[in-house]
Amino acid sequence: MPELVVRRLLIDLAQPMARHWCAGDAFRTALFNALSMSFPLGEQFFIDAVRDAHKALPPDLQAQYAAEVRGFVGQEATHRRIHTLFNNHLEQQGLRNRWALSIEKQRKLFVGQDPRHVLAVTAANEHFTAMLAEWLLSHPEVLQGSEERLQTLWLWHSAEEAEHKSTAFDVYQAIGGNHTWRITWFRRITLIFVTDVLRQTVNNLHHDGTLWQWRTWKSAAHTLFGRDGLVRKTVRPWRDYLRRDFHPSQQESDQSSQWLRAHSDVFTPVGASAKAPV
Ligand SMILES: [Fe+2]
Ligand SMILES: [Fe+2]
Repeated sequence: MPELVVRRLLIDLAQPMARHWCAGDAFRTALFNALSMSFPLGEQFFIDAVRDAHKALPPDLQAQYAAEVRGFVGQEATHRRIHTLFNNHLEQQGLRNRWALSIEKQRKLFVGQDPRHVLAVTAANEHFTAMLAEWLLSHPEVLQGSEERLQTLWLWHSAEEAEHKSTAFDVYQAIGGNHTWRITWFRRITLIFVTDVLRQTVNNLHHDGTLWQWRTWKSAAHTLFGRDGLVRKTVRPWRDYLRRDFHPSQQESDQSSQWLRAHSDVFTPVGASAKAPV
C-alpha cells in the first residue's frame, strides 16, 4: 500500500499568467485550462466518493485503508485548492467554466444511489487522470517553454495522481464492487470525459479568439495524434482497464517517484493526516 504524503507546493500563484501560458501554444493552453476547470468540483466528487465508501466498510477494512484514504483526500484537497487559484486567473481572462456545471449535474444523479456506482465512476476518472499524468511526466516537452512555476504545478499534480491511482480502485473492490459495473461505468465515463474535455477546450478557444486559426488545429493534431501524442499513448492503458485482472499498480509510475525525488525543493511534505495549506 503506498504511503501518500500530502505536499505543500512552494509556488506563487498570486501573479497572473500569460493568456497562452503553455509556451505560447493556444491549443495546449486551452486543453490544460479545460482540465484545470474540472478539478475543483471533480476532485471534491472523488473525495466524497472515497470517503463515504470508506466509512461504509467493516471496521477491519476501514483500519486497513485509513492511512491511504487520508492521504488521498489530503492530496486531492490540495489539488483542488491550487487549481481554484489557477482558475481564478482564467476567469479574469474571460474564460467560462461550463465543465463544472456538467459535474454538478452528474453529482446530483448519484445522491441516494448505491455508493459502489459513484466509486466506479471515481475509479474510472482516476484512471483517466493517471493516464494523462503518465503521459505528461513521460513527455515534459509538452510543457517546455512555459513558466517554471506552471510546469511545476502540472508535473507535481501529475506525480501525485500517479501516486494515488490505486486508492479509489482498491476501495471499490473492498466494498464489493464488481467487474461488470466497473467496466460499464468506465465506458460511460470515457464518453462523458472526452465530450466534456473537448467541449470545454473548444469553448476556451472560442473565448480566446483562436478557435479558427490554422496553428491551433495544427497543434491539436500534433498534441493528440502525433507520434507521442496523448491519444496514441493512452490507447493501450485505456484498453488495459477492461481486463478482468487489471489493477492500477500494473501501470508504470516510475516517472512519478523520479520527479518527486528530483524536485523535493519545490514542496514541503505536511504529512498524510495534516490539513494541507496552500
Ligand atoms: Fe488531483
Ligand atoms: Fe486523483
